[in-house]
Amino acid sequence: MSIPIRSHAIAVLAIVALCGFFFAACASTGDATVSPVDAAGGGPTLAEAYRDYFPIGAAIEAGPGKFNSLKEYPESVLAEYSALVAENCMKASLIQPREGEFAWGPADSIAAYARAKGLYLRGHTLVWHNQAASWMFPSTGTQAERRALVRARLKAHVEAVVGRYKDDVRAWDVVNEAVKDAWSPSSWKTIWREDSPWYQAYGDATYIQDAFDFARAADPDAVLFYNDYNICDPRKRERVVEMIETLELKKHGLRGIGIQGHWSLTWPHVADIQETIDTFHEMGLEVQITELDIDCYNNSDSTKTLSYKNFETALAARYREIFGLLRKNKDKISAVTFWGVADDHTWLDTFYGGSYRPSSSRKNYPLLFGVKRERKKAYYAVRDFERE
Ligand code: XIL
Repeated sequence: MSIPIRSHAIAVLAIVALCGFFFAACASTGDATVSPVDAAGGGPTLAEAYRDYFPIGAAIEAGPGKFNSLKEYPESVLAEYSALVAENCMKASLIQPREGEFAWGPADSIAAYARAKGLYLRGHTLVWHNQAASWMFPSTGTQAERRALVRARLKAHVEAVVGRYKDDVRAWDVVNEAVKDAWSPSSWKTIWREDSPWYQAYGDATYIQDAFDFARAADPDAVLFYNDYNICDPRKRERVVEMIETLELKKHGLRGIGIQGHWSLTWPHVADIQETIDTFHEMGLEVQITELDIDCYNNSDSTKTLSYKNFETALAARYREIFGLLRKNKDKISAVTFWGVADDHTWLDTFYGGSYRPSSSRKNYPLLFGVKRERKKAYYAVRDFERE
């Protein structure tokens, strides 16, 4: 069965009933009972275990005023990773909140940390419909005037941000989520996310080509990525392929595809992950798994929190299965990055069932470290494997 996937645009049907992980007995609230495993460590780090495979990383926050992973997490946990990406602070509205005013501090601290430790740093993201800087998009003027103004602002933004991190960021998510994911055939008229402010200002999808051109000019050495979610679903994957071909994006500097791993215990099937890796590899692109986290509630929109013990075993099994597949594809995959470090700070507490729900958080347990930053069973399922 093809399972409808998390969508930013449409709330996904509740498939909780299908999952089999929801036992009536586990109706407690999120007590996050986890066995206190050896938080101090022992054995190789993830980075060491995957040295011969691919860099393995995590998204981190860097404050100020917000969560600061570099201060919150012990060095022993941060040392698990050989790659990093900024969860928020490099996004347009955060890094250039007003025209010409840049808030470099948080991103600088991540870049400095990555440099000091010799980590592979991903840049996320230059062009996205969310967390875009609203000042960039004029509400008046003709289409041609708006396009010209936004184009100039895009160029200045990309030059400033990519230019600043030229020596640190090795791969940029130049464009994020520009393809529409509509699942009902009546809305398949276009592949573009037409309600994106970028699309609206330009009047077409050529902003994507511009973004790649500007990024390539600003840093010819960075590997430029298109990054999107749900692309293990063949319907969306085909649209991404169509986008790359229609816009001839490789001629504009596209070199990689970020397969966002916002997956669940049951979706996608590993065969679909394999198909997706192969499709983009065969197009001559680098493949990375980005934003990996496993939604324990299988994309349901139920507001009820279940305790971690209900998911512990299934989560470990799912991570074991996924990393078994990823290791087999090590020659096609150039990095794997998680969307967070530990369950105490995960966007999935407030994004579920296809929507952001900041006022009704539901505890989720999608990562390898628990709420007390302890190693979960899932951690060992990823780290400890038989070398082929
Ligand atoms: C999310 C962050 O995790 C949240 O903290 C923020 O409020 C919204 O954005 N796809 C992406 C990421 O490409 O940038 C998003 O990150 C998650 C979905």
